[in-house]
Amino acid sequence: MGRSIYCVVTAAGSGTRLGNPGPKALVELAGECLLHHALRTLEPLEGLAGVVITAPRDYLETFTQVAQDASLSYPWKVVAGGSTRQNSVYLGLQGLLSFDRDTGQVAADDREAIVLIHDAARALTPLEQFQRVCRAVASGCPAVVPATKLVDTVREVAGESFTRQEVAITPAGFTPDRSRLRCVQTPQGFAGNVIFAAHQQGREKDQAEGGALDDAMLVASLGYPQYFVAGSRRAMKITYPLDLQLATWLAQNPNRE
Ligand code: CTP
Ligand code: MG
Repeated sequence: MGRSIYCVVTAAGSGTRLGNPGPKALVELAGECLLHHALRTLEPLEGLAGVVITAPRDYLETFTQVAQDASLSYPWKVVAGGSTRQNSVYLGLQGLLSFDRDTGQVAADDREAIVLIHDAARALTPLEQFQRVCRAVASGCPAVVPATKLVDTVREVAGESFTRQEVAITPAGFTPDRSRLRCVQTPQGFAGNVIFAAHQQGREKDQAEGGALDDAMLVASLGYPQYFVAGSRRAMKITYPLDLQLATWLAQNPNRE
């Protein structure tokens, strides 16, 4: 493919919903922590010119140790993340900018660079998913999102909840056509100039409500089209304790899902 690929691995969250002590990225899954799994998957990605890991401010040394222990052959660095995921990605992107100085590669904010944003919480995301995203960006798509079809039918909430007979009841409304809906995953991939511009604009806008839900949304607000490629069940986000159980099974059964 020949394009330089950069990646921000977001890992600065605290994992409130998982409820383990310490950051979620350090939680063990089949013998290694989530961050280790995510970093090792990137190892064979051709063209990978630099990876920035966002870490909680108090864990910079621990995260650096995890990356060191993973014996990575690509350039990497750990930076402190922010209070929201969006802010962490912004700080991660800034960290990517120093790699070209060291390596002589095209800079991360160049239109020729491919920038991936990936959640360490999706620790078992297969290499093929990274490669699909990269190929789609290389083919000219400015923003690429791996996505899966919905399992459940979804329906809109149509009004305020109330309690009757001690049961919380919520008025329900419109049912969107499920075949037109997708669940979005990471890594999301972008032309370098596009994702840097989107995060710059996102920073200037109101960041109330914890920032943007994902990076492709920020890019869409600049008017760029976004495109889906196939996601996978292995790229599930480890959020609740049950997810960790499921991920453990997936790690132990590499050919099933
Ligand atoms: N993340 C981050 N910086 C933040 C918040 C989240 O880098 N301020 C990262 C997380 O580490 C994770 C990814 O964004 O890899 C997706 O976030 P999520 O799954 O919500 O993880 P947490 O925020 O850690 O979990 P919770 O919301 O349950 O606290
Ligand atoms: Mg969170």
